[in-house]
This record gives sequence, structure tokens and C-alpha cells, in this order.
Amino acid sequence: MARTIGILTAGGDSPGLNAAIRAVGKAAQRAYGMEVLGFKDGFLGLMQDRYEHLDSGDLSGILTRGGTVLGTSRVKVHKIETGERRRYDGRQMMREVVERHRLEALVCLGGDGTARNALKLAEAGIPVLTLPKTIDNDVSGTDVTFGFDTAMYIATEAIDRLHSTAHSHHRIIVVEVMGHGVGWLALGAGLAGGADVILIPEIPYDVEAVATAISTRRTAGSSFSIVTVAEGAISRGDSEARESMEQEMSDVDKFRRRAIKERLRAFEGARAGGTAQLATTLAALTGLESRITILGHVQRGGTPTPADRLLATRLGTACADYIDQGLHGVMVAARGEGTEAVPLEDVAGKTKTVPMDHPWLATARHLGIALGD
Ligand code: F6P
Repeated sequence: MARTIGILTAGGDSPGLNAAIRAVGKAAQRAYGMEVLGFKDGFLGLMQDRYEHLDSGDLSGILTRGGTVLGTSRVKVHKIETGERRRYDGRQMMREVVERHRLEALVCLGGDGTARNALKLAEAGIPVLTLPKTIDNDVSGTDVTFGFDTAMYIATEAIDRLHSTAHSHHRIIVVEVMGHGVGWLALGAGLAGGADVILIPEIPYDVEAVATAISTRRTAGSSFSIVTVAEGAISRGDSEARESMEQEMSDVDKFRRRAIKERLRAFEGARAGGTAQLATTLAALTGLESRITILGHVQRGGTPTPADRLLATRLGTACADYIDQGLHGVMVAARGEGTEAVPLEDVAGKTKTVPMDHPWLATARHLGIALGD
């Protein structure tokens, strides 16, 4: 039987996924004569054995396409939820599919959630490898993830365009960018787009300090300000409230923990309107008009940048080499111009946040960009 590998995409879609699928597939076929099965809709399709044979024809013409030709899902392999709100463990079914097809390896393209799923499958005896995908750039153990550069480009271009209304109407424009719980995208796009204020989750902000920075700019003759805020950014007061509930949770038994979890969920839900509230408060404190723009899923759409295409392609071909060498249970991490096989144990459950000593933060401070502290 021909050497056969499986590939799937899981978690949020991202630019570069199809470039990675193409690279893994072409390298596996051309260099090692492998057959490639593309499983549909992430781990759900793997469990249901829904796949298509990816031949060279299927892999042509997808390098430049956004999203994923295989479809994706966010299921957890050990807690597959069905419509009737039942949950069951899908790992045994997935293992049977892998054995049925005699897969030499299963390649999972995804972010931190996918690394957690992949580790559970590795522990169940499935030979998995992952490639680091997400616009958030929050995957631990890799220099960078594919999708990040494209999202940063899209957000930067939006910030460029928002300058027009800001300076024409002497307004505060608050633009919210994605990034889940980290600030890489807001910090990178904010710097590249010339934002005057950048708020990231890693630095809980003092709204008075932000208002003072905007008013100081106005006194110095700049009658507008661009505030780039990460969707996970949080005020100091809210951060203290969250930490207090989390501390409370760690101090009580699991029965009382559920009640606190509910409170925390309601608290996070109420924060969803945080960007609008921030803009309103800044307008009140500065006397300037404010408007908000929430970029949302636009940042994940369309063709990947050349940098993301190159990154996804070189990670994908390296993955085929690792499979031929018999490596699995690892992430194919970007390391400089090369790659490194990082054990999934060192990736799963860890989030790469912006460190306080990161050079981008020093750059922002040198430029007088307000960071909310
Ligand atoms: O993880 C990528 C991401 O785009 C995050 O930045 C964002 O918070 C989340 O996915 C949105 O998830 P969904 O596409 O399920 O709404």
C-alpha cells in the first residue's frame, strides 16, 4: 500500500492555510511518493472519516486563496458536542480512521486549540504533526505563525484609511483589531499604521491616562488621535475585578466554583461592548468627537501576503521531510530562516503573550505612543 498521510485544518480560518496544504501535499507527493487525504472540517471530519484524495490537480491554484479548501471546525477531540447537547469522546473513532487508512502521519494546521487537540491524539497513539496557524500569533514555541502578517497588513491598511476621517473631523477614531487574548496584532498594526494610542491585553489601561495623552496631543496641535485597541484589551479596574474572581475561584471547592464561573462569564460578556464604552469615555474626557471601527473577520479574509505564503510553504515542505524522518508528536516551528520540531507538550496549553521587554514596546514608547499605563 502506498505511503499515505492525512491533513486537516482546525480552529479559525486564516490566510496561508491553503498555501500550507499545497506545500505539505506537493512535497509529500513529489519527494516521497506519498498519497494525501484531506479531511473535511477539521477533527470532526476526521472522526466521521470525511475526506478527499488530494492529487496534484487539487493542490494547484490554491496558494493564493484565503480560508481553507478543506473547511474547518472548532471541536475538541475529547468533548465532541452534538445537537442534543450530548458530549462524547471522539478519539477512539479518530484512531480507527487513522488505522483504517494506515496513515503514516496526520498533519493538523491550527493554533493553540489545535495543539491541545493534537497532543491528546498523540497520547492516544496517533502520529500527529502540527503547523502553527493563526492571525493572533499567540502560539508558543514558534517565532511566528502564518496568518499574522496578512492580518497585520489588513489592519494597517484600515488604520491608514481611518486617518482621513480622523484629521478631517478632528476626531478620536478607536479601531478594534482581533488577537483573542494577546496584543501582537494591535501592537504590530498600531506601530505600522502610526497609531497614537495602542492598548493591548498585556497592559491593562488607565482610561484617564489615555485621555490625558490625547488632550496633550491636541494642545500640541494634533486635533485627532487614532486609538488601536486589541479585542482582549482591558481597563485596570476590570483587570483587578477579573483577577479577584479568578483568585476567589482558586480558593473554593468545585461546587462554589461553578457560581463564580457564571459570574466571570457574565462579566466577560458585559465587556464585549468595551470598545464602544472606551470611545464614549474618551470623548467625554477630552471634549473630542469619537467614532469606532471594529475590523473583525475582515482581518482573516482574502489572499495571504507574500511573507505568509513563503512562511506557510516552507513550514509545509519541512513537515513532509519530518514525516519521512519518522518524526511526530511535534509542531513544525518557524525558527529564523529554518524550522525546528518542537514537542507538542511544549506548545499545548501555552499562550505567547507580548513580553513587557519586547522591542516593539520600546519602539512605541520612543515614539511617544500612549500604551495606557
Ligand atoms: O483565533 C483567531 C481569531 O480570529 C481571534 O482573533 C478571534 O477572537 C477569534 O478567532 C474569532 O473566532 P470566530 O471566528 O469563531 O468568531
